[in-house]
Amino acid sequence: MYEVLERETLAPGLVLLRIRAPQVALKAKPGQFIIVRADEFAERIPLSLADWDEESVTVIVQDVGVSTRKLCALTRGDLIFNLAGPLGASSRIEKCGTVAVVSGCFGSGPGYALAKALKEAGSRVIYIVEARNRDWAFWLDRIEGVSDRLTVTCNDGSAEAHNATGPLQQILRSERIDRVYAIGCTFMMMEISKATEPFGIPTRVSLMPLMVDGTGMCGACRCSVGGEVKFGCVDGPEFDGHKVDWSLLIERMRSYLEDEMMALDLWERENWHRALERKKALH
Ligand SMILES: Cc1cc2nc3c(=O)[nH]c(=O)nc-3n(C[C@H](O)[C@H](O)[C@H](O)COP(=O)(O)OP(=O)(O)OC[C@H]3O[C@@H](n4cnc5c(N)ncnc54)[C@H](O)[C@@H]3O)c2cc1C
Ligand code: FES
Repeated sequence: MYEVLERETLAPGLVLLRIRAPQVALKAKPGQFIIVRADEFAERIPLSLADWDEESVTVIVQDVGVSTRKLCALTRGDLIFNLAGPLGASSRIEKCGTVAVVSGCFGSGPGYALAKALKEAGSRVIYIVEARNRDWAFWLDRIEGVSDRLTVTCNDGSAEAHNATGPLQQILRSERIDRVYAIGCTFMMMEISKATEPFGIPTRVSLMPLMVDGTGMCGACRCSVGGEVKFGCVDGPEFDGHKVDWSLLIERMRSYLEDEMMALDLWERENWHRALERKKALH
């Protein structure tokens, strides 16, 4: 069992969990993820490592279905049934001239870990956050601390730009960028890859195919990259964004949408009281 040491609501539907897991923290590297089961009946779900110290790992959970909702419903002191990791190939961290890191949704957590490592390796880091609204633009102080320049964009129009694509294209036109990283929702990563392709700039994306075991055995996370079959959990999750077959990825991610919606509906009906319990526990 893995204890929740800290829980923070960053925005509605976006929760930070710091979990006691010293063995995982010891080996954690930027770009890697863990697989978590909230309770003994829960699905195994992958979550990217956003931060870690000697005793714990931090993840940012975006509430999209039953398993993420179960995790978001936890409070400090609660126990997580199962946690495995670190999994996946880590990002290549090296001094690389100027890099642009683009993150959205939960991605500003792992994006921060990546930017921090790239900065420490001697790269110049330009960071663009794409948030739904100002509430979803979290960890800006941390990100600012590891970036040479930070731009925040908001889908609701509350910042100068609605999304990261325009500001990134402007930067690409005005200065040399050696590599671009994108992490967050699949649509954003696809758009960023399309935007950088005409400039020929290497673009690394952290894919989120459906996963089950996370160790290369089940094939659930199969993706097509450059016409080759790749397993997101062991060959990735980071891949060349210009080579990803995005339509196939999105089609496969939507395979169980109806079942997922029904599962969430049923869980909500059975567990409505948890929201009240959590509120009480927080006060
Ligand atoms: C390597 C990796 C790292 C990830 N890191 C994070 C993270 O740091 N924070 C975060 O909030 N989410 C992350 N995800 C996505 C997260 O795993 C899914 O949102 C979660 O599994 C959904 O489970 P659910 O039961 O809550 O929702 P479901 O009801 O199962 O699904 C709701 C939606 O989530 C998508 N989804 C479902 N299962 C998965 C899955 N196993 N992997 C990817 N997408 C899925 C579905 O396409 C659907 O659109 C990551 C996924 C991968 C593969
Ligand atoms: S999750 Fe099973 S092979 Fe990748």
